[in-house]
Amino acid sequence: MTAPERMELPGDTAVNGSTGNGNAGGAPLLTVEHLTMRFGGLVAIDDVSFRAEDRKITAIIGPNGAGKTTVFNCLTGFYKPTVGRLTLQREGRAPAYLERMEGFRIAGEARVARTFQNIRLFPKMTLLENLVVAQHNKLMRASGYTVRGLFGFGYGREEQKAVEQARYWLEQIGLVDRADDDADSLPYGDQRRLEIARAMCTEPVLLCLDEPAAGLNPRESADLNALLTFIRNEHRIGILLIEHDMSVVMQISDHIVVLDYGRKISDGDPEFVRQDPAVIRAYLGEEEEEDLPDIVRQDLSADDAGGAGAPS
Ligand SMILES: Nc1ncnc2c1ncn2[C@@H]1O[C@H](COP(=O)(O)OP(=O)(O)OP(=O)(O)O)[C@@H](O)[C@H]1O
Ligand SMILES: [Mg+2]
Repeated sequence: MTAPERMELPGDTAVNGSTGNGNAGGAPLLTVEHLTMRFGGLVAIDDVSFRAEDRKITAIIGPNGAGKTTVFNCLTGFYKPTVGRLTLQREGRAPAYLERMEGFRIAGEARVARTFQNIRLFPKMTLLENLVVAQHNKLMRASGYTVRGLFGFGYGREEQKAVEQARYWLEQIGLVDRADDDADSLPYGDQRRLEIARAMCTEPVLLCLDEPAAGLNPRESADLNALLTFIRNEHRIGILLIEHDMSVVMQISDHIVVLDYGRKISDGDPEFVRQDPAVIRAYLGEEEEEDLPDIVRQDLSADDAGGAGAPS
């Protein structure tokens, strides 16, 4: 099944197929500059800058409490940053400064979609309903925001397109046979992929995924990798991915940004980040010990020898 036709929005001059913002080769899709977020005395994000390109997967990694989810909360309007500029740039449109926009405009106009660290589906709605409800905004526009509009031809046509879009995504995640089952009857890994499908039904240009592989088994992680690669390659949008699972991050990311204690400590392609001593120290741990500089490895060996009396 091919992707259903994408709905044109008022002022939208960059329609090119189902999704994608047609920004290849231009300015980065997302530019984060000097982002700082303070909660009272706690500096959760400290002067972080990075870019995320269109048609690329940009991973944000870092230890617990590094500030990853806070970056998403700033991007999607849940928090107003203390300092910083967050620019979404789509070809043919004026830049959207996300730090100035309300959350509903970031989702509806700037077209930034997200999933959450903890699953937030409508558990007692069917899979199909979850995906159609996600398209509420464009259905309401089609109704003209009137009750009479709900019975008009325009609304009926958009409703049909919304169902087609939902079916398309159910097929992509292999769950079309379960369209009429309640969302909470799905295994955990399927719920995760349903959340991504729901976000895709909003036709985003930037998809922000907060730990989509958390709690998945290796088979489910592989399915997730395939889904995200498909979305990047076929739907040609930018993906921002927060993830602890290195088998996901290293396999599918084009670019990785590493945070630690709210600061950016590394930024580059997976090979660069994998070998960056700052990252190894902060995040990847002893599995990567063979990549450590000699002097650090010698120090670690000395520590191990010193700890020989510890209980095994
Ligand atoms: N609303 C808030 N009020 C106060 N402190 C907050 C708030 N949101 C986040 N923080 C703090 O900001 C810091 C970064 O939190 P954040 O949730 O962004 O980390 P994270 O990198 O997503 O961690 P994890 O990998 O555990 O999900 C933490 O110290 C957290 O306690
Ligand atoms: Mg988090």
